[in-house]
Amino acid sequence: MRTYHPRRGRLTDDKRNRVADLLTRFGVPATGELDLAALFPGLPVVLEIGFGMGEATAHMAQADPGTGILAADIHTPGVLRLLTLVEREGISNVRVAHGDALELLAEQVPKASLAGVRVFFPDPWPKARHHKRRLVQSPAVSLVVSRIEPGGFLHLATDVADYAALMLDVVNSEPLLHNDYQGFAPRPADRPLTRYEARGCDNGRPVADLVLRRLPT
Ligand SMILES: C[S@@+](CC[C@H](N)C(=O)[O-])C[C@H]1O[C@@H](n2cnc3c(N)ncnc32)[C@H](O)[C@@H]1O
Repeated sequence: MRTYHPRRGRLTDDKRNRVADLLTRFGVPATGELDLAALFPGLPVVLEIGFGMGEATAHMAQADPGTGILAADIHTPGVLRLLTLVEREGISNVRVAHGDALELLAEQVPKASLAGVRVFFPDPWPKARHHKRRLVQSPAVSLVVSRIEPGGFLHLATDVADYAALMLDVVNSEPLLHNDYQGFAPRPADRPLTRYEARGCDNGRPVADLVLRRLPT
């Protein structure tokens, strides 16, 4: 099931070549199980799914150099933007995966290997007939949870009221997730204002955060 808008033909050949070049330095192998200890020596690793233009990712990485961030997005202009930030700012704790994060999780991320997973403002897919494309629903969440180590976290945020309600139902029915807050969490201090959120805030939409902990099996 595709959870993203396929957008093609927007990048020049120069930019595509630049993405390919930067990915050889700041990306991850496109196939095979990831060796997270080699990619992020000595660091716990947090996966961010759908980083958009990557400003919040770069900000969080710089604010917390003791955590490695595996940042996945399908959207090539955003991938180029984050790769450029990583190179320009000399950010050493970010690795970029260009592609579908659910495929990455299923095929390349070892089980119980992540210290946490962030999904900030996943595509809302507002039309009822497209709700099945929403990222945060079972069984995708079960896949995500299986890759988080016991004690690790899952942090979700959305400004779409019915998506927030769906997220709450999904996490409540996931037996390996514990919610310290019972319902929505107060806005965590470490979540920067993302580009998408800034637009939503302009329109006055409240944001719902969910912060869950992975239980031992
Ligand atoms: C609404 S944007 C939010 C971006 C960013 N988190 C923010 O708050 O500004 C959602 C992003 O998720 C990405 N996305 C959707 N499905 C994805 C998937 N399966 N794997 C990786 N990225 C995905 C889209 O390409 C898009 O960049």
